[in-house]
Amino acid sequence: MALENKLGIEDSYELFKTEEQLSKRKAKLLFEKNLLDSYEAGTYKTLMFIHEYLFEDIYDFAGKLRNVNISKGNFRFAPVMYLQPALENIDKMPQSNFDEIIEKYVEMNIAHPFREGNGRATRIWLDDILKKEIKKVIDWSLVDKEDYLQAMERSPIKDIEIKYLLNRALTGDIDNREVYMKGIDNSYYYEGYTSYKTKDL
Ligand SMILES: Nc1ncnc2c1ncn2[C@@H]1O[C@H](COP(=O)(O)OP(=O)(O)OP(=O)(O)O)[C@@H](O)[C@H]1O
Ligand SMILES: [Mg+2]
Repeated sequence: MALENKLGIEDSYELFKTEEQLSKRKAKLLFEKNLLDSYEAGTYKTLMFIHEYLFEDIYDFAGKLRNVNISKGNFRFAPVMYLQPALENIDKMPQSNFDEIIEKYVEMNIAHPFREGNGRATRIWLDDILKKEIKKVIDWSLVDKEDYLQAMERSPIKDIEIKYLLNRALTGDIDNREVYMKGIDNSYYYEGYTSYKTKDL
């Protein structure tokens, strides 16, 4: 069964494809209209805006904090009861150089504030911080998808792999739409919408 959505889609593969298309269109608009210019880089409010903008036509929970605990693989993301304080602490993390920015990105991934769509929203949030703080972004076409996922799985324990992988892909080509769009390719592969194990509170 597909995750509940505004489009009334019940098949999870159909939802995956439709959601991908719609959110990509919104991501393009986000970029073309420079909507992030009026938002502060590196705050959770900005991430919530990004998520809401990408997914508002698809999910009721767009831009809203999740109210279920979720896990992927062996990793359980921040428990709902610690989510708000975690986000407030992440806001205060420094972001003045590449290492600090990736450390912040890793913590935001551990928080995983949303029910779905964390990866895409958080990669846009990351690019926004890199762009505003160090005038660089990641050229996601240079990041191997499997390497990325493995490094992210590893990142709560050690962040050296994700730092290495993303550092190698840094570019000064910050206003290139193609570079930006590559980062929001959904998952890289279809896992199905049951990919999160959830636990109702
Ligand atoms: N086992 C794991 N441990 C920690 N982080 C993980 C794990 N598996 C995936 N991730 C992170 O979670 C993201 C996926 O989150 P989610 O499915 O909510 O977002 P998405 O936008 O739908 O997917 P994607 O990022 O794959 O495009 C991945 O991009 C990766 O950064
Ligand atoms: Mg997903």
